Order: sequence, then structure tokens, then C-alpha cells
Amino acid sequence: MLRGSDRHVNASNVKQVIVAPSLLAADFSKLGEEIRRAVGAGADWLHLDVMDGHFVDNISFGPAVVAMAEAASDIFLDVHLMISRPDHYLPRFIEAGADMVTVHIEAAHDVTETLQRIREAGLRAGLALNPETPLAAVEPHFDAIDLLLCMTVVPGFGGQAFMPEVLEKIEDAAKLRKKHGHGFLIEVDGGIDTHSAASCRAAGADVMVAGSSTFRAPDMAAAIRAIRGE
Ligand code: DX5
Ligand code: ZN
Repeated sequence: MLRGSDRHVNASNVKQVIVAPSLLAADFSKLGEEIRRAVGAGADWLHLDVMDGHFVDNISFGPAVVAMAEAASDIFLDVHLMISRPDHYLPRFIEAGADMVTVHIEAAHDVTETLQRIREAGLRAGLALNPETPLAAVEPHFDAIDLLLCMTVVPGFGGQAFMPEVLEKIEDAAKLRKKHGHGFLIEVDGGIDTHSAASCRAAGADVMVAGSSTFRAPDMAAAIRAIRGE
């Protein structure tokens, strides 16, 4: 594991970091305005957390909100499906205008087939794993994905504390990616703020999902820059 000064020499400190504010932490009474506020503050992507009340213990929103986000701006839509049957609902999220769809390895579907369908539709394919799921579970899919999402909280709710024990998994994923020449990005999601983002960047993560620490910051632009490490 990288520690202390080692972090300053890690190549991930100099590469481009993507910040994806999570709409879950926005003011739901004015979602279109909130999306434009994120874009104006320098967000690279918009992260959309879809929860079905079954795969996770919460219900958020579905394809209609993704379609609204697509109409509200041109920002890249990073759709995170925390649902039991992503294979069943996939066409509706493609139709709604998602640019990337990320599905969970723990959900009840044929993962190989779902990832293939996402790419065949011309979208980027992401694969997510929960904090307790070992990296070995997703490794067989490394050639079929554009993004690996390492959850840094147990999914379901915004505003939870970052789990530092996931850093080792991020480092292992980054090492394997380098060793085998894979092209996927590594995304982290849950409890990401200036401090935890720095650890994740040092571990090799490229995409920082941040809800509370961006939408609820007094200065969203400054928060996004800080998470990016600028
Ligand atoms: C957690 C969601 C996250 C969440 C992040 O289940 O997948 O995207 O919105 O929220 P914060 O940044 O507040 O932890
Ligand atoms: Zn998410």
C-alpha cells in the first residue's frame, strides 16, 4: 500500500482526474438548475444513482430523471444502477440518454451479456463492486469494461463515511490494469471529499464521485477543484 511521501511520486498525481458530482445530494425541488450549477462549477461528469429498494435499502429515481438530465445539459451522464435486474431495465436507460451504464457484479444478471449489450448500444460499460466483494470477482470482465467502480461505502445512501480499507483494492486494481494493459478507468464512490479523494488518487483512482461534498459545499467550484487535487 502506498503511504506518505510515496504518494507524491505516484503517476496518478499528474494524470487528469475526473470529478462526477452525484445528483443524489442535489436539491430535488430544482434538479435542472442543480445540474447546470454543477456544470458551471466545472463538473466533468454527472453521476446518477438509480436505486430500486431491493438491491439496496433505498429508492431514488429512474429513467425519467436520466432523460431530464440529458435534456438539461450536454454533460456526460454516468448512470450507476443499484438495481437487482439491470439487464431488464437496461434498454430504458439507454433510451433515456445515458452515456455510461455501470452495473453491479452482485446483481442477479448475466454480467458478461449485460456488459456486451451496453457496449453494443454504443455506450461505455462500467462494472461496480461493493466494499466486501473481492477484486477476483470482477477480474474476468476486465477486457469488457470501460470503468471499474470500487464502492467506498456500502451503497444505498449518500453522506456515509469513506471506508479506507477499500484503498488496497484500488491499488491492486491499478496494478493489475497496468500489468495486463487494460484501458478501464477506476472510479470511487461514497464519502469522497478533499481528503479521501487524495488517498484514492494516490491509490490509482481516476474518477471521483462526490455527492455531499460538492452539491452541499458553500463553493461548489472550489470543492470540485480540491477533489481533483488542484
Ligand atoms: C451511494 C451512492 C453514491 C452517493 C455518494 O450509494 O452510490 O453515489 O450518492 O454520496 P456521498 O458523496 O454523499 O457519499
Ligand atoms: Zn453512485
